[in-house]
Parts: sequence; structure tokens; C-alpha cells
Amino acid sequence: MSTFTTNIQLAYILVAACFVVGLHLMNSPATARRGNQVSTVGMAIAVIATLVLLIHDGTVTAVGWTVLIVGALLGAAAGLWSARTVQMTAMPQLVSMFNAVGGGAAALVAVHDYISLEASGTSVLGTTTVTTVLDVIIGSVTFSGSIVAAGKLQGVITGQPVIFRGGRMANLALAVIALGTAVFMFTTASLPALLILVLASLAFGVMMVLPIGGADMPVVISLLNACTGTAVAMAGFVIGNWALIVAGALVGASGGILTKLMADAMNRSLGNIVAGGFGTGDAVTAVGPGGGNASIRSIAADDAAIQLAYASKVIVVPGYGLAAAQAQHGVAELATLLEGHGVEMTYAIHPVAGRMPGHMNVLLAEANVPYPLLKEMEEVNPEFGRADVALVIGANDVTNPAARRPGTAISGMPILDVDQAKSIIVVKRSMGTGYAGIDNELYTNPKTSMYFSDAKKAVAELTAAVKTLVG
Ligand code: TAP
Repeated sequence: MSTFTTNIQLAYILVAACFVVGLHLMNSPATARRGNQVSTVGMAIAVIATLVLLIHDGTVTAVGWTVLIVGALLGAAAGLWSARTVQMTAMPQLVSMFNAVGGGAAALVAVHDYISLEASGTSVLGTTTVTTVLDVIIGSVTFSGSIVAAGKLQGVITGQPVIFRGGRMANLALAVIALGTAVFMFTTASLPALLILVLASLAFGVMMVLPIGGADMPVVISLLNACTGTAVAMAGFVIGNWALIVAGALVGASGGILTKLMADAMNRSLGNIVAGGFGTGDAVTAVGPGGGNASIRSIAADDAAIQLAYASKVIVVPGYGLAAAQAQHGVAELATLLEGHGVEMTYAIHPVAGRMPGHMNVLLAEANVPYPLLKEMEEVNPEFGRADVALVIGANDVTNPAARRPGTAISGMPILDVDQAKSIIVVKRSMGTGYAGIDNELYTNPKTSMYFSDAKKAVAELTAAVKTLVG
């Protein structure tokens, strides 16, 4: 191995170290920002080392360099613009689109490799490896699946399960076609086979995500994230780039762990995800509040403030509505005020609250809420019985007792035991449903008072009312 090649390999080892250390630093919110910076440095070294390698090899044509430079500039500009301008509430869609382009790019690497080998007169036979076909399959599935997921999160495609008659059979048929074509490609050089492989995989991605609705989306989003990493690692094998293999493997592995955590949080089996149409409930039962005739009790700021200010223990339950209203700073201010008055404050974090994994943690960290106040579901659930007030702000599905009985879209999903608190105040704008589209039985619980308002406005009103009470 020449000194030059050794140096490039050493640079790639440094890159791998940066990624591993960066990922480790992301373990805690206190060091997560630094973790991002270390990983960015790693990626910059990887890009520079690869460019140096390309210049040294001299294999890239003038046209190739033009495409590479223009593509990199356009991609960087689009990434920078979207990351800077995206609203916090649209972040999940953006992450899904990033998954889509990651998977799509990885698939294109293998497609290009296959086509250019064939065009150069070298038979692709014998050079078509397992990683080539896996790259095409996983990358294409991720590309189309992530676009559908982004559409569902954006509301362009219905968030409810889209189920076709024979959908499962169609999924099975597409999987058999893709795998059969992949095996065929090991024995026969065929561009049409490559086209069939791409189309079957793209269709499988669409058919896999369409039947997944409402509350089950977190699992599929994490799975697609894991797939992006795996496809990128496969692309690394196809073009023999170690940095790509390591980066892809890390994303694939961490995405895999996240998928397992999300599936456990939703009490769903991973096998069902790929089969399609999981967790949609036998029949989605829209339970009217209290069976249709229970009364709803609403509360005004002054009365809610009295409950909060004279409580010993308050548990705040944040949900998607808190993010939508951007009420995190207001909530932090209210909690600090109550703490100063001797109230024990805790935030109950459900693993799928919001629209992306860790959504509530990110949101509350932005408002400098001390991390020890945030408690995961298993830890906080036994505490609800001791809480004088559960203050639910923009959370719905993650508190819905309907999850405890069969036949609903969220059946089996563990929820926050908000109904165990002595008193419950729910802040939301209407009796509207959450992401899963079913009514919440919590709202008709005799212990519940509804505070109908935008979360940011409600929190400001509550803070003002508590201030007048406690001076
Ligand atoms: P949701 O069940 O989506 O409920 C949010 C509630 O917030 C709505 O009922 C809405 O009621 C209220 N809201 C919206 N804007 C508001 C505002 N400006 N002020 C006050 N309230 C507002 O939220 P959740 O309890 O956090 O549950 C998350 C759901 O999303 C779960 O079903 C989960 O599976 C799904 N999901 C999660 C993820 C991830 S990875 N976390 C990804 C995709 C889907 P009003 O309209 O009446 O105000």
C-alpha cells in the first residue's frame, strides 16, 4: 500500500473516530451540540479525503467534476436553506425528506455502478454483489417510503391508514419480485432486471408506509432512518469507501435501536411493520366524549392558577400542541414560578409525544428546562397518583385511556397515567382529536377541567394569574 493510500485510510479512521465520539456525546442534551460539531468535522474530513483521492486517481472527467461541484453546491445550499428556515413543527417532515434523499442517493450509487460497468464492456456478471442489490433495494424502499411518510406528516397524504383490499398480498408479491430479480441478476447481466428491481422496491416502499396510520408513524419513521444508514453502508461497499461504510453502519445501527425503542413504546411488533397495515385496530372506534352524553367541564385561568399555586406536586404533560404553539419558553417560566413557590414540578415525557423521536426533550431543552425534571413514561407513571395536578398541554393520544382497551387505533400503546392524578387540567383549543384521530376519554373524566385556548396564550394567562396569587 502506497504512503498516499495509507494516509487516506488514516484520515478515514479519524473520520470514524469523530463519528463514534460525536454519537457518544449525543447521549446527553448537555453535550449533544458538541456531538454534532465533532460529527460535522468528521464529515468534512471525509469529504476532503475523498476529493483528494479522486484528484490523485485522476479518474473523474471534466464533466464529472462539473456535475460533482454543481451538485454539491446545490445540495449544500438546499440543505442549509431548509435547515435554517424550517419551523420546529415541520422538522419531522424535513427529517423524512433527508432520509429520502439519503436512501435515494445510496440506491443511485449502485444503479450507476451497475450501468457504467455494463457500458464499459465489463460484464456486470461476477461484479454484481449482494451489497449492490441490497443497496438498490433498501435505498429505493427508503426513498419512496420516506416521501410517503413526509407527505403524511405534512398532511398532504391522509395521516389515517390507507388500506387496499389485497394490500398485504401485493406487498408480499412485490417483495418476491424484488428478491427473485436480485437472485436473477447474479446469474444474468440484465439492465431490464435492474429496472424491475428498482420499480418493485419503490412500489414496496409506498405500499409499506401507506397502510401505517396515526399513532404508529413513529416506528416507521425510525425504521426508514435505519434503512437510510444501511443503504449508505451498502453504497460504501459498492464503491469501496470506508468512511461511507462506517457512517452508514452507525446510522443503521442507531436507527435500528431507535426503531426497537419506538416499537416497544407503542407495544407493536417489528414484523408487522414490513407486512403492512399494522396497528390500525380492527375497527377504529371513535368514542364520543363519555359515550356521547358526558359533560365537559371547562376552567378559567384564575381557577386553574389556584389549583396550580396551592398544589404540592404538579406534573406537566407536554404534547404536539405545545410544539405547535411554541409554548415551551412560557411553560418553563410558569414551572420556575411554581417551583419558587414550593411546588414540586416534573415533566412527563412519552416516547412518541410530538412528531419525532425526542421531540419533547429537544423542545424543552431549547427552553432550558433542567434535564433532571424530565421523566420518562415508566419512571413518571407511578408518580401520577401523588400529583395534585396533571397539567396536560397540547398532548392528546399519549394520554388517551382508550389505549387500554381493544378495538381502537391506539390499543395496546402504553400511555401516561394522567387519569391517576387528583386533578387534571387539559390545555388545548377544542375537543378535536389527536394524530390518531380518536376522541379522548380523559376529557370526560370527572376530575378533568378543559382549558380551551392556544397553548402559548393559555400558559401566559396562567403565569399572570399565578403571579397575582403568589405575589
Ligand atoms: P396529538 O395526539 O397529536 O395531539 C395534539 C393535540 O394538540 C391535538 O389534539 C390538538 O388539539 C392540540 N393542539 C394543536 N395545536 C395546538 C395549539 N396551538 N395549542 C394548544 N393545543 C394544540 O399529540 P401527542 O399526544 O403528542 O401524541 C403524538 C401523536 O403523534 C401520537 O399518536 C404519535 O404516535 C404520533 N406521531 C408521533 C411521532 C413521533 S416520532 N413522536 C411521529 C408521527 C406521529 P386542538 O386542535 O383541539 O387544539
